[in-house]
Amino acid sequence: MSAALITGASSGIGTVFAQELAKRNKNLVLVARSEDKLQQIAEKLQAEYQIEIQTIKQDLTERNAVNNIFNQLESQQIEIDFLINNAGFGGYGSFPQTQWEDQQKMIQLNILALVELTYKYLPIMISNNSGRIINVASTAAFQPMPYLSVYAATKAFVLNFTEALWAENQNTGVKILALCPGPTKTEFFNEAGWKRFNSNSSEYQNADEPIEVVKTALQAIEEGKSYSVPGRFLNQVVTNMPRFFPREIITKIVEKEFRPK
Ligand SMILES: NC(=O)c1ccc[n+]([C@@H]2O[C@H](COP(=O)([O-])OP(=O)(O)OC[C@H]3O[C@@H](n4cnc5c(N)ncnc54)[C@H](OP(=O)(O)O)[C@@H]3O)[C@@H](O)[C@H]2O)c1
Repeated sequence: MSAALITGASSGIGTVFAQELAKRNKNLVLVARSEDKLQQIAEKLQAEYQIEIQTIKQDLTERNAVNNIFNQLESQQIEIDFLINNAGFGGYGSFPQTQWEDQQKMIQLNILALVELTYKYLPIMISNNSGRIINVASTAAFQPMPYLSVYAATKAFVLNFTEALWAENQNTGVKILALCPGPTKTEFFNEAGWKRFNSNSSEYQNADEPIEVVKTALQAIEEGKSYSVPGRFLNQVVTNMPRFFPREIITKIVEKEFRPK
């Protein structure tokens, strides 16, 4: 059986990817730490659509996480032809005041797990002359982000890495996309401890809907794009500013805007 593997499928953008691919009759492998949430999502989608769904409870910051997933799916003869590296988290605050363990896990999840899953599945897709990989970056990938310094740097990595693979794979039949959402209505801000974006705030109310982000991504990858900035026009402005202004100026503006009150 072939399936799409979605990391971080228990919440937010990942859950909506699962819903949208289920609608397109795609079998699914859903990965996250929250087993109950994954089970609920799987049961709901299986009741609605004629698809197979496998859930895998896995903390992707653990040492053998990717091997565990790969070996389990191989032993069940589940072939991954669509990989969505979506799991990720951020942490808001001045760098020296953050917890080292959080920063380390952020790098392990946002970068290492994503790169390793890509390393495992891309060669198989290339040998099949077909496949899709969406790596979830962010509008934060386009410029340094004071008070989200490590997070934004992980997303800059994801964007650069993914665009490079996109170019390497122009003739392999594998489509690869970096998805760069702006603020989106999910648990992300809660997890990041960023109170300014609490669910009652106007910032949160003005954020994009995950469904819009996911639909734009699924269309962009079919169109062969290397990256996609979905959502409101402001996201286009923010991601293009570094092309027109000196980096110091942009970074100082962001520092002032995001400085903890
Ligand atoms: N929301 C935004 O404004 C926004 C903007 C730009 C980019 N993004 C990116 O979009 C992606 C999805 O985030 P979201 O907005 O949908 O946030 P979310 O609702 O908090 O979802 C994050 C997902 O990642 C999973 N996850 C977290 N730590 C994990 C770990 N150690 N191992 C395995 N899974 C883990 C979570 O599941 P468990 O807790 O069950 O493990 C959850 O399913 C992230 O990469 C994020 O950086 C979000």
